[in-house]
Amino acid sequence: MKEMNEIVLPFPDDFHAHVRQDQAMIGYVQDLASQFGRALIMPNTVPPMVSAKQIAEYKQEILAAAKEVNPDFKPLMTFKLKSGITEAELLAMKAEGVVAGKYYPAGVTTNSEDGVSDFESVFPVIALMEKMGIVLCVHGEEPGVFCLDREAVFADKVEFLANKFPKLKIVFEHLSSAKAVALVKRLSSNVAATITVHHLLMSLDGVIGDALRPHHFCKPLPKRPEDLAALREAAFSGDPKFFLGTDSAPHSREKKETCCGAAGVYSAAVALPVLVREFLAAGAIEKLSDFVGGFGADFYGLPRPEKTIKLVREPWVVPQEIHGVVPLAASETLEWKLA
Ligand code: DOR
Ligand code: ZN
Repeated sequence: MKEMNEIVLPFPDDFHAHVRQDQAMIGYVQDLASQFGRALIMPNTVPPMVSAKQIAEYKQEILAAAKEVNPDFKPLMTFKLKSGITEAELLAMKAEGVVAGKYYPAGVTTNSEDGVSDFESVFPVIALMEKMGIVLCVHGEEPGVFCLDREAVFADKVEFLANKFPKLKIVFEHLSSAKAVALVKRLSSNVAATITVHHLLMSLDGVIGDALRPHHFCKPLPKRPEDLAALREAAFSGDPKFFLGTDSAPHSREKKETCCGAAGVYSAAVALPVLVREFLAAGAIEKLSDFVGGFGADFYGLPRPEKTIKLVREPWVVPQEIHGVVPLAASETLEWKLA
């Protein structure tokens, strides 16, 4: 068989990205915008994104940072779910480009101390979101439960929400367990899921198996080999319920290499070359276009990307550090490169 040396993909969408704030944000946005046409921007900033005014300002900052590398970059905005948000507030947020609200259970991940601690308290806001066509994105981990069981336990809440709000679109974010994969497959077409690059690469062995790898530490934790296998099967199968959300989450080297390290893998800069490698290895390269530039747009009711992006077979070494952050695959040689 002739070796493939070029791959053309739709200019992809990242349906889950963290770009942080202030000066640091500029480089993170540029890494993201040079590889993605649109990205769903997470609201776990400090302070959190909870008002139309804040979100409008944040969006402008992101657009300004992206301009140099991709003037067409489209940030898709989110707010952090809390109780008491009114219909008028949701309408104002929608007018500023908000497409989703993010449910963070209290304390399960970075900047989520102010997340939801009373499940039922957010039902009225979720009911409004259902009525208004705003997607509910869920960080599906149950606080306080043994770390490897948090997602499986919270999955029951996702199922409950899907049944209670049948018209609500729900995205179960960054899946990490076979149980959650099975649940998403079983629920209606209003429930979909994102899968990250790093959760397609490793089980918990990749975080603590033979050495402590702080730059692989993330939430939810990668889990057992059978969980990894279920995620890979879902991503490579061409099932429209599963699409890319990198959860690219930069933290400085100092915040990762310390006694109480921050959770997050910085993958934006290497996402596509790594995905090409993995889909090729799985014999599923024909499924990659929909995974990165099709199914997510369809689910969110957005037009599919019009532009394309080309990758060429040209080995390069991933830098050890980018903007003070150690990226996924740092120092590794990747065979595929953005043309
Ligand atoms: O590993 C993670 N990092 N998981 C999340 O859910 C949040 C993210 C972050 O913001 O750093
Ligand atoms: Zn995230």
